[in-house]
Amino acid sequence: MSALAPDSQYIHTDKIEGVPYQLLADKVPTPFYAYSATQIKTDFAELKRILPQGIDYFYSLKANPNKTLVALLHQAGTGCEVCSLVELEIALRQGVAPGDIIFVGPGKHINELTQCCLAGIKAVVVESIEEMHLLNDIAAGLGVVQNIALRINPDFTGEKAKLVMSGKPRQFGIDEQLLPQAFAVLGKLVQLRLAGIHIYLGTRILDWQALANNTQNILALAATLQQDYGIDLDFVDVGGGFGVRYFDKEKALDLAALGEALLPVVNNYRQRFPRCKIVIELGRFLIARAGIFVTRVNYLKPSRDEWFAVCDGGANCHGSAAGINSLIRRNFPMARLGPPRRNNDQHRYQVTGPLCTPTDLLGENVLLAELRSGDLIGIGHSGAYGASASPVSFLSFGHPAEVLVENDQAFLIRAADSVDTLLAPQVYQCLSLAHG
Ligand SMILES: Cc1ncc(COP(=O)(O)O)c(C=O)c1O
Repeated sequence: MSALAPDSQYIHTDKIEGVPYQLLADKVPTPFYAYSATQIKTDFAELKRILPQGIDYFYSLKANPNKTLVALLHQAGTGCEVCSLVELEIALRQGVAPGDIIFVGPGKHINELTQCCLAGIKAVVVESIEEMHLLNDIAAGLGVVQNIALRINPDFTGEKAKLVMSGKPRQFGIDEQLLPQAFAVLGKLVQLRLAGIHIYLGTRILDWQALANNTQNILALAATLQQDYGIDLDFVDVGGGFGVRYFDKEKALDLAALGEALLPVVNNYRQRFPRCKIVIELGRFLIARAGIFVTRVNYLKPSRDEWFAVCDGGANCHGSAAGINSLIRRNFPMARLGPPRRNNDQHRYQVTGPLCTPTDLLGENVLLAELRSGDLIGIGHSGAYGASASPVSFLSFGHPAEVLVENDQAFLIRAADSVDTLLAPQVYQCLSLAHG
């Protein structure tokens, strides 16, 4: 029933759950994202079933902040990891208890820290000594004690991460060498309570052994700190960075092997620190496989000896598929959607979007069933870092629509931007400046 077979390059080309793509495209303007509710639930249930029991999972809203999806994951049992005021508000308005929210990020604004204190969230993950001072002052002003977690930039790096976030000079976290200073300062900041340790090593890791080693290294460092400083923690957030397979040569993460490898690591730690919870924060792994990006072929044109399928949505709505932020762009799983035609021969296409740049390339030399203008193309594994991580304002196309499908029902969960919604914030207002 699911939209995409888990961890497969295969796309169901006719339907998402019980709903034909063509029916959705009749109701919603292309391009759009469609998500399978069943697959979101199944992917999370599988993860919980296979990894050691008793781990707390936090959904990283940066992967996809749509409030309906946040609510769905929260109902399935995740907390929320947020990084901005709006992400915090999304979580709170979707009924996530403040005690199930952590706020992470190296550049938190005073307003964000204030809202965290007012809501009384589970922890502000502090990333510098200066931030600790600022948060303490804010908490003092509000007359509250705020829980924090120290984000540490450890001496070790993450194994096999595509984006390395530690072990070198980074804006993230407090360097391991600075911890004695940080603990000394923290001892004097009476409005802050140390509730946790947070270490995030990197993302898009597909190697179970690397993930197990990373977790082992993090828990070992946490244990040393707990012992050396005599601290009693509520939780250690060991990050995550679990990858999903996008490209032909990638191998899906072996969850069963990861679960087996993590069990002794987690059990050893728990024997020593039974009260301390282990937290994993994940975005991509919880949402990527459930989403498909649907774009329509507007024009088919030959150029020299190649065929271009020029679509109505490209890098502006799906920057990840176009390789924005990647060193090398490779093709996401892609297929022509809809019932097969009599002649199902494969043809080679350059799949592009509507932007005036050659980098607006969704698929290079992709083999697809023969296309006609008006056809729908689906890009799989697109639930994470889609529109929200794309330059949706470029050429003023705006944010595409989003649809959630469950069985044979479909719900619009975000309307596409319109001319009016795009133009409304553009104003011409005199700023009353006080001179002299
Ligand atoms: C601190 C932190 N947490 C969570 C995430 C989510 O990562 P992913 O979507 O790969 O799980 C990121 C991504 O960069 C991150 O920096």
